[in-house]
This record gives sequence, C-alpha cells and structure tokens, in this order.
Amino acid sequence: MIVVFLGAPGAGKGTQAKKLAQDMNLKHISTGDILREEIKKETHLGKKAKEYMDRGELVPDELIIAMIEQALPEDLGVILDGFPRTVAQAQALDEMLRKHHKSVSCALLFEVEDEVIVERLSGRRVCPNCGAIYHVKYSPPKVDNVCDVCSTSLIQRDDDKEEVIRRRLKVYKEQTAPVIEFYAQKNKLKTIKAVGPIEDIYKTLRNAISNGC
Ligand code: AP5
Repeated sequence: MIVVFLGAPGAGKGTQAKKLAQDMNLKHISTGDILREEIKKETHLGKKAKEYMDRGELVPDELIIAMIEQALPEDLGVILDGFPRTVAQAQALDEMLRKHHKSVSCALLFEVEDEVIVERLSGRRVCPNCGAIYHVKYSPPKVDNVCDVCSTSLIQRDDDKEEVIRRRLKVYKEQTAPVIEFYAQKNKLKTIKAVGPIEDIYKTLRNAISNGC
C-alpha cells in the first residue's frame, strides 16, 4: 500500500502518519523530517534546503525527487507525508512507481481552516531527537517541555513563526493545491475533516483506508 498524505502545513499529517505507520507497519517517509536531518548534519542538500525552508518556500523539485528515489523502499507499504507537493513531483512519483509495477493506492487530504493552522503551528513543539510531535494546549507532554518518549528537551521549529506560517500557507495554495486535482482526476482522492480530537480523526482515517485504499 502506498498512501499519500496531502494537506496544508499543520493539518496534522505528521501526527496521524506516526500513529498509522506504527499500527499498520508502514514506512513513514516525511520529506520535511528528512530535510531537517540533512540540515542537522550540515550536508550539501541540507545547506541548500535551509535557504528555502527558512523562507517558507518549497525546496526545488529536482532535489526532492532525487531524495525520494533514495528513500522509497522496494517492497514495504509506505506513507508519503509532505510529498508530492507539486504536480511535477506527483508525475515523477508515478514514473518511479511504474518502473516497479506499482502505483499510489490513495491520496488522503486533511482539511483544516487557516486560522486553526496558525494556532496549531504556533503551539507546536517537537523532539529534536526522536521526532515526537506535541502541542502546548492540544497534545502536551507529561512533563512541561520534555519529550515523553526519550526525555529530550522540546524545541520550536524555525519555520513555525507566524510570518513564515502565512508564507507556507500561501505557497501551499499556489503550488500544492493542484496536486489535489491531480489525484481527484485519477479517482484516488479521499478527504478527511481534520478538526477535532486527534483520536477521532485517526478513526476516520482508518475507516477511509479500510474502505478501499
Ligand atoms: P514539512 O515538515 O512537511 O511541513 P508541513 O507540510 O508544512 O507540515 P507540518 O509538519 O508543518 O504539519 P503537519 O501537517 O505534519 O502537522 P503536525 O502533525 O505536525 O515541510 C517543511 C518544509 O520543508 C516546507 O515548508 C518546504 O520548505 C520543505 N519541503 C518538505 N517537503 C517538500 C516537498 N515535497 N517539496 C518541496 N519542499 C518540501 O501538527 C501540527 C500541530 O498541530 C502539532 O503541534 C500537533 O500536536 C497539533 N495537532 C495535530 N492534530 C491536531 C488536532 N486534531 N487538534 C489539535 N491539534 C492538533
């Protein structure tokens, strides 16, 4: 099974992908997480990507496509979180999968209004060690600012400042919204209302997957 997670920044893709990957033994590939790892290691890709990410813009397609080609597993089921984000990336993904006689099983769109997103992202805290995701109000750690999983101090992402969040939302509407149409035309799109308790959204997600993904 190859599932694509679509949705604006802060729609909850990472939160839900981590749960689904664990429950269904799928590989979770988050392009944002891979890029942040490259930045931490100060690689050539990381240095290039940081310029774009700090501005809230997309990293160029050719860099992202090469990165995904390396990350895609041969046989395991996979959740693609944050990829594809442009039509060119979606076409490149189809091409990559075709070579292995595979195709995208379904694209799940997480729908959330802009104002909810700004609140979610400005309250997000992440673990720089294990990648666990928290929210100061909606999903707080047991001990203030400390990761429940590995006890590392939590951080706020550099791109979770309000002006960068607004820029990311604009980029999403201009460059990623056409990807929704790309999958709709192939009858592979399912929409999930992503507002409400995280567990309720997860149930809806599991139902969507059971009903033909
Ligand atoms: P990336 O890391 O992919 O960021 P994003 O898509 O902007 O998504 P986020 O990680 O911000 O949000 P999410 O939907 O995963 O939400 P989360 O679960 O964390 O990309 C970062 C940058 O990398 C991009 O801007 C771009 O520069 C570059 N990049 C990445 N992929 C690329 C590509 N393919 N092409 C080009 N460039 C690329 O939840 C958010 C918060 O809300 C958390 O605090 C969480 O606890 C909380 N929350 C979640 N669900 C709920 C709920 N139901 N109720 C209340 N709070 C909730």
